[in-house]
Amino acid sequence: MSTTETNRYLEGNFAPVTEEVTAFDLEVTGEIPTELAGRLLRIGPNPVVPEDPATYHWFTGDGMVHGVRIRDGRAEWYRNRFVRSDRVTEALGEPPIEGPRHGMGDGANTNVISLAGRTYALVEAGPVPVELTYELETACRSNFGGTLDGSFTAHPHADPVTGELHAVTYYWQWDHLRYVVVGADGLVRKTVHVPVPGRPMVHDCAITETQVLLFDLPVTFNLDAAMNGVRLPYLWDEGYAARVGLLPRDGEAGDVVWCELDRPCFVYHPLNAYDLPDGRVVVDVIRHPKMFATDLQGPNEGPPSLWRWTLDPASGRVKEEQLDDRAQEFPRLDERRTGRRHRFGYGTTLGAGVEHGPTIKHDLDAGTAELHHYGPGRVSLEPVFVARSDDAAEDDGWVMSYVYDAATDRSDVVILAAQDFTGEPLATIHLPRRVPFGFHGNWVPDA
Ligand SMILES: [Fe+2]
Repeated sequence: MSTTETNRYLEGNFAPVTEEVTAFDLEVTGEIPTELAGRLLRIGPNPVVPEDPATYHWFTGDGMVHGVRIRDGRAEWYRNRFVRSDRVTEALGEPPIEGPRHGMGDGANTNVISLAGRTYALVEAGPVPVELTYELETACRSNFGGTLDGSFTAHPHADPVTGELHAVTYYWQWDHLRYVVVGADGLVRKTVHVPVPGRPMVHDCAITETQVLLFDLPVTFNLDAAMNGVRLPYLWDEGYAARVGLLPRDGEAGDVVWCELDRPCFVYHPLNAYDLPDGRVVVDVIRHPKMFATDLQGPNEGPPSLWRWTLDPASGRVKEEQLDDRAQEFPRLDERRTGRRHRFGYGTTLGAGVEHGPTIKHDLDAGTAELHHYGPGRVSLEPVFVARSDDAAEDDGWVMSYVYDAATDRSDVVILAAQDFTGEPLATIHLPRRVPFGFHGNWVPDA
């Protein structure tokens, strides 16, 4: 293990911003598609008080949410707000936020979604969701009206037909993972406890039309590390079997079929999964060769790249093939294809370590990929695909990204035509400040 006096996650565009800003009528270059009406939200860690570079872990910073409101071809506002936890309200001299609790923390920094007309900031491994207002103020902590028992996840996946959210949750005191289904009404309607041998970190899941995929991989809770004050006490666990479980969406714990991987690895994010007619399941993932083996400040153990895994429940094995060897992360989909066979995917390329780069668009049928370069010193955070209309073809829409410009130390929201991915942006929305590198976000159309 190495500790250093420097920490890249507190420097450059990883460094936190200190002010909460509200800006109206943002300057736009080009033309925003008039079909777009809603908010482009994103969230990431943004420590409210100075952190010790020797011990800070990127995943543990206080959450800050950013949003741009778009309507009638105009960018009406930009806002950024700390997600209020006890630590944040204390630092800001505000009264504490109300609502149920679970685990030791009460913040959320990893994803921001819309569910049943409400906006939620999400995190995994303990704390409950935090409900935000339309204008991104913290409203309350929420366990979905008392229906969520414990931890949630930052990566629930909505079935495009039913609108239900499918999630896999975990907590260091649990000897099992939980498959949680949240109805389109925002209430949990099903929970399945699936025993696992360790206490794995399970950042995300995937669904097909019939199955949910459980990633049981060799990064596990380490009690010694926790006792020694390691901020994120989940470490590479040499010898812990790497496997993916197939749980029928309508099944129970005893129905899980585990498929073993030949080599250990770690996955934060699948791009998507789908059923094959013969019962096998395909899942495309961003595969990291290791995780938290040597670097305890952030996810930096060799380049992550795009792989296709074919899970065979008959043999219990996984066929692995690399689809693209470039370093990349934050894979996104035309989410009308969630759980169904997809052709396209979008993501962010990475340079050395976790340095961000151009966006990438994959055509997985053609076996090709394109890069969109935003210009010198301009790099993309996670891109989001937005369909032109409900019945548009896959990939017929826009790729929207928060883009950081090192020369001006400010950020833009850039809107690309997905089908003219390398062409000039349709619109560049100029923000009054920079948006730090962070985790995830979504386009939330107005109801
Ligand atoms: Fe994530």
